[in-house]
Amino acid sequence: MKMDRYAATVLTFLYLQSFCFVTGAPLPMKNLVNAAGLFGQNRNPGVQGESSTKDVSFPRPTLANSIAGLTNRSDQVFGIYARISAWGHEHTKSDAYSAAVIQVSNDQGAEYNAIRAGLHTLPSLYKDTKLHLFAQWTTDRDWRTGCYNTDCPGFVPFKDSYTGIPKPGMVVEALSSYNQTDSSMILQIVKDERPGIGGDWWLYRVAGPVRFPLGHWPASLFASLSRHATEAAWYGAVGSARRGDAPPAMGSGHGPGEGYTRAAYFADISLMDRMAYPADPSLRSVAAVANDERCYKVAVDAGGGNTFFYGGPVSRFCA
Ligand SMILES: *[C@@H]1O[C@H](CO)[C@@H](O)[C@H](O)[C@H]1NC(C)=O
Ligand SMILES: *[C@@H]1O[C@H](CO)[C@@H](O)[C@H](O)[C@H]1NC(C)=O
Repeated sequence: MKMDRYAATVLTFLYLQSFCFVTGAPLPMKNLVNAAGLFGQNRNPGVQGESSTKDVSFPRPTLANSIAGLTNRSDQVFGIYARISAWGHEHTKSDAYSAAVIQVSNDQGAEYNAIRAGLHTLPSLYKDTKLHLFAQWTTDRDWRTGCYNTDCPGFVPFKDSYTGIPKPGMVVEALSSYNQTDSSMILQIVKDERPGIGGDWWLYRVAGPVRFPLGHWPASLFASLSRHATEAAWYGAVGSARRGDAPPAMGSGHGPGEGYTRAAYFADISLMDRMAYPADPSLRSVAAVANDERCYKVAVDAGGGNTFFYGGPVSRFCA
C-alpha cells in the first residue's frame, strides 16, 4: 500500500531556499539535489520579491499571487509530467484561487506562449469551492489571451461525446486528507513530434497503466511554443483579487517539512525530450521559484522519487 511505502521511507528534506536540513539525517546517496547547482545560473539568491519569479507568470484575473515550486530552463522542452497531490481548499473569498500547476512556456521576450494544467479551486470560474482539473493556454505574458478549459476556441477535447474520458474542468472527487489519505492525479503535457502529426501539445491523465488523452492544443495556436518550450515548471500558486485579502491555503496548508500525507507534493517529476522520452531532471538543473518564502516553501524529498513538497497555511501577510 502506498502509505506504508511512504511511511517506511526515511525522509530528509533539503530546503531549497534556506538551505538547511529539517532532519538531522545525512542525505542519502541517491540525492537529487546538488547543492552547488541550486545556486547556479537559474538561482536568484534574493528570493524575496518579484525577481525570482518573473519567468513564471500567473493565472488571471487575480492580482496578488504567491508561488512555490521548481523550474527547469532549457533549449528544448517537449513535455512535462508529475503526480500531483490533490487537496481541497476552504475559500473565504470567491475571487481567490489555489492551484497546483504543471506548465510549459516559451519566452522570447516580446512573444510569450504558455500552456498549463493542474488542479485548482477557483470559485469565480466554477461557482463552487471544489477542486477541479484544469487546463489553460495563452499567447501573452498577462494571460489575457486564451482561457481555462474549453471556455474559448483553442483546446480541443478528446472525443468530447465519450463520457469515459476525463475533461478539463471536471471536479476531482478524491482528495487527500491531513495525515490520513494520500490522493493524487498524474498529468502530462507533451508535444507530439512524430513526423506528419503536426506537433500539437497533448494533455494526458495517467491512471495505472492507462494514459487517457484529455485533448490537445493545436500547434497553430502558438508561435514560439509551436516549436518547443524553453521552460517547464511545477508549482503551487495562490492568490486573491485584492491585496490584503487572505488567499486560500497553498497545497495542504502545511509546510513542506511535514512530508508525505501531510504536505502537498509533486512526485515523479519529469520532462520529455523531442522523442517524448521522459528524463528525470537532476536537481542540478532545476531552480526553486518562491516569491513569499515567509509563507510558502519548497523542499525536496532527498530520499528520492523526484518528489518535492510545497505549500503553507493561509496567510494575509503573503496576500
Ligand atoms: C498522524 O497520525 C499518526 C497515526 O495515527 C499519529 O500518531 C500522529 O500523531 C499524527 N500526526 C499528526 C501531526 O497529526
Ligand atoms: C534542465 O535544464 C538544464 C539547463 O539548465 C538542462 O541541461 C537539462 O538537461 C534540463 N533537463 C533535465 C531533464 O534536467
